[in-house]
Amino acid sequence: MYFFKIWAFSLLCIDFLLALVDNTTETYKSTIDSLKEMVENSTSCEDLLSNYTFDQKTVIDVDWKMFFYWNYDDGPSCVFKFSPPYPVLIDRYRSELNITPPVNWNNSILFMETSTDVSAMLVSTDVLGKFRIISSTAFEVDTSYTEMAIKVVPPGYLIMLQCDFRFGFALAPYDKMPNEKNIDEAVHTLGIKSNYNKTYIYEEFIEAQLAAFEEDHLKPDDDVDDVDDDDEEGTNEYMDWE
Ligand SMILES: *[C@@H]1O[C@H](CO)[C@@H](O)[C@H](O)[C@H]1NC(C)=O
Ligand SMILES: *[C@@H]1O[C@H](CO)[C@@H](O)[C@H](O)[C@H]1NC(C)=O
Ligand SMILES: *[C@@H]1O[C@H](CO)[C@@H](O)[C@H](O)[C@H]1NC(C)=O
Ligand SMILES: *[C@@H]1O[C@H](CO)[C@@H](O)[C@H](O)[C@H]1NC(C)=O
Ligand SMILES: *[C@@H]1O[C@H](CO)[C@@H](O)[C@H](O)[C@H]1NC(C)=O
Repeated sequence: MYFFKIWAFSLLCIDFLLALVDNTTETYKSTIDSLKEMVENSTSCEDLLSNYTFDQKTVIDVDWKMFFYWNYDDGPSCVFKFSPPYPVLIDRYRSELNITPPVNWNNSILFMETSTDVSAMLVSTDVLGKFRIISSTAFEVDTSYTEMAIKVVPPGYLIMLQCDFRFGFALAPYDKMPNEKNIDEAVHTLGIKSNYNKTYIYEEFIEAQLAAFEEDHLKPDDDVDDVDDDDEEGTNEYMDWE
């Protein structure tokens, strides 16, 4: 069980993104009941985006790292980066994917890379700041899009909120992460209403505990080695940015 958890931590970022974009998996469906509470009492995309004008220039070319998340499950700590999508990339999404309901690829305005192998295309909607997000996993399995609101709040934090189930996360530029001293203030600034909340500081504490446990009690296993090797080789985007 502990072993599974350690392994799962390395992959949380992926799992979370998969859950976001895959409305159809059994695991996701089974969590819908626990999500009801969240939906009732959390900030909605409409609340978040009312009276808000999104300018995509404010989010590109920044290494965004999660510092706070409100979520039904353990949270990940991914790093994201946005860029304007190359036309050839948009064409690849357009020609290879058959998304239902269909999206208008002409409105692809941002491409999101993460610290995992998963990336995503963001297609704008009629509501400024609300996007249809199509993950690169759609190239391997049939998935649909997920709708998310993206908002930049002073002094420069980024909120991403999933519109159906109202879970989400807040990111700060990698070099301006809130620390233990100012994280409460940073979270307060976001103005997010939710009963579920976790910070990356808590998550890193748990991760460190698990790593210590692994060292003390367990021998390395092939799976774990594989994950570590990937990181060392710098095969993921996150390593490449540094
Ligand atoms: C939402 O919050 C209200 C007021 O605090 C509470 O009465 C209600 O039970 C909550 N809903 C759920 C599903 O937890
Ligand atoms: C919308 O924003 C403008 C400019 O910040 C502000 O003057 C106005 O009161 C806001 N309206 C609402 C309904 O919040
Ligand atoms: C997308 O843009 C192309 C070229 O301008 C146009 O022919 C096509 O009709 C547009 N598609 C949609 C769904 O708007
Ligand atoms: C995802 O699931 C929710 C709840 O069942 C539904 O309202 C929404 O339309 C679905 N989204 C997509 C893109 O299929
Ligand atoms: C997290 O949620 C709890 C329970 O609703 C709340 O008391 C607390 O103020 C929240 N913390 C933050 C940082 O929002």
